[in-house]
Amino acid sequence: MKRLSRLSLLAALLLSVAMTASAATYKKQTIMAASANTPGSNHGVLLNRFKDIVEKESGGAITVKVYLGGTMGDETANVKQIRNAELHIATLFAGNLTPSAPTANVLCLPYLFTSMDEAYAVLSDKAFTTALADQVAKESGARPLGWMIGGWRSITNSKKPINKLEDLQGLKIRVSPTAMQLAAFRAWGIEPHPMAWSEVFNALQQGVVDGQENMYVTNRDNKFWEVQKYMTEIHYMLWIGPVIVSDAWYRKLDADTRALVDKAVETAQKEEWAAAEKEQSDSKKLSIENGMQITIIDPAEEVRWQEKARGVWKDFLNTPEMKSLTDKALAVIAAMPKK
Ligand code: MLT
Repeated sequence: MKRLSRLSLLAALLLSVAMTASAATYKKQTIMAASANTPGSNHGVLLNRFKDIVEKESGGAITVKVYLGGTMGDETANVKQIRNAELHIATLFAGNLTPSAPTANVLCLPYLFTSMDEAYAVLSDKAFTTALADQVAKESGARPLGWMIGGWRSITNSKKPINKLEDLQGLKIRVSPTAMQLAAFRAWGIEPHPMAWSEVFNALQQGVVDGQENMYVTNRDNKFWEVQKYMTEIHYMLWIGPVIVSDAWYRKLDADTRALVDKAVETAQKEEWAAAEKEQSDSKKLSIENGMQITIIDPAEEVRWQEKARGVWKDFLNTPEMKSLTDKALAVIAAMPKK
């Protein structure tokens, strides 16, 4: 008995030495995190979860300051701050990364995905995400460490229901400054209005544009029902949001801190994926309760949208990286069990 209790004492001692040693491996430092979205958005939830994990597991050695609601500027500005390591981590819509990292367009190829499950599969494929992250880091200095997957980007507007392509004609629709989105809307016959995300609500309110396109969750976070009456569900693009870190900063991190950052992003991403579908359906319900009129495009009609939008792919598969990443994504999708 005595021998056993001496052994347990020794084990407890060793454990406490190991814990002290591991806490001591984190240097005192501050991580700056930002999103142009609200605290209740998937961005805000993810970054605050990242903060909780990093601060707790570093035993308070690392402080994470989270700036939300655009206090650090717009999403495209955040990418530049990340490149200069003025910010260390940020979340944004993939499209808003494309002006700095054109290869991020691979996730914006219209009608690449036919379901959220396909996006989960592609963004769980390490060969795909590593190749994409390396290329995006090379182009922009921002390294995607994780990916949020929200839901389909639906079109809202203040003028009329859109049931078919013809109804879209004449509407002034805001899109993010993403070449792929501009090309898709041009293929559908209208000239879209690229605009920074932080300007969208005011532009809708003042009638500078008639509509925009985003997922239900974004509609909820920004109370777009105050300025938009109609919402049209189409399936041309999923809202996918990279969790980017400053590559220069990340490479200089010591191994333990880097592992903690990786783990915190991975955990927060998993939780975002698990919550996404419910968040979408709750936000849809709220949009209806707040007076929005929802149109679901008839599948036969959507084939017309799809044919036109898929026509722009050839203009974007113009680098070896875009070609090879698109092939990789398509191969992952093709290998999925058929339902
Ligand atoms: C946009 O339309 O610019 C984005 O979808 C905004 C966002 O990050 O949710």
